Amino acid sequence: LRVAVIGGGQNSEHEVSLASAASVHAALDPAGYEAVALTILRDGRWLGPDEQPLGSSTADSLAAVLGVLSECDVVLPLLHGPRGEDGTLAALCELAGVPYVGAPVRAGALAMDKWMTKRVAEAVGVRTAPGGLVTRNDLSTVVFDRPVVVKPIAAGSSFGVRLVQHAAELEPALRAALELDERVLVEHVVTGREVDVTVIDDPEHGRRVGPPLEILVDDGLFDTTTKYDGSAAFEIPARLTEAEVEELTDSALRVYDALGCRGLARIDFFLTSDGFVLNEVNTMPGMTAESQVPKMFAAEGLTYPELLDRLIRSALV
Ligand code: DAL
Ligand code: MG
Repeated sequence: LRVAVIGGGQNSEHEVSLASAASVHAALDPAGYEAVALTILRDGRWLGPDEQPLGSSTADSLAAVLGVLSECDVVLPLLHGPRGEDGTLAALCELAGVPYVGAPVRAGALAMDKWMTKRVAEAVGVRTAPGGLVTRNDLSTVVFDRPVVVKPIAAGSSFGVRLVQHAAELEPALRAALELDERVLVEHVVTGREVDVTVIDDPEHGRRVGPPLEILVDDGLFDTTTKYDGSAAFEIPARLTEAEVEELTDSALRVYDALGCRGLARIDFFLTSDGFVLNEVNTMPGMTAESQVPKMFAAEGLTYPELLDRLIRSALV
């Protein structure tokens, strides 16, 4: 089968996505698939499998992309962040009539929006950190009354996220986040262990969760630097009691279903002194061989090419 592997994208996670795409591309051949690489440049133009620009304008480029996609059996959209993971790529595949791995349009859009994810999770009984929405219009009304985390509503890999411990840091943090998104989330700081779990639609076993992973970081903040400098250590499976595993599994599946996810999603939690608190949902998490999701499934004996094979087949059932 021919698999279109799409990487890059028009946001701060461009490089992260290229790494996911390169790693997947290299593993598809051993998995028995023919990979067709497509890259979205930062300016929105696309490069074809020969790494040459597709078309001379954006409109030409898209027409050529549709041509390439129509010759593929399935699409692996390895895009992270806005204009990719947020349903836009899913929409392109839907319009082109080509099966694709991962979340449909609505689930991608909801999960990319940290505010909407919170609303949906709370509605199905999964706790999230108390938090409020801030736009440029209400900047002046925000008061500091406790340490908070400031996050752009729709950005990934912790770009623009700041921990605010003192009143004087609040406004600069809000302004920095507002540079990346017109809506910003101000959340109470949650203290706990960071435990992530992945739900997949496994063609062999049905929808299920993989082994949970705990992120061990020295200074307590898994930020953009520690995410990619190799200093964070993963413990798989995370050391959890049976009751904790049950709560985690149940919460992850409820969120996955409520958002309408498909294929896979990595769902990130904090384990606090009174249970799990949802942090966020990634409908296309980092997928290099060294990323969390492949490591989780490797811990139960599924190799990286085998995992990719299951994900691809999940799109074809
Ligand atoms: N947003 C990055 C890619 C992740 O969550 O893995
Ligand atoms: Mg993320």
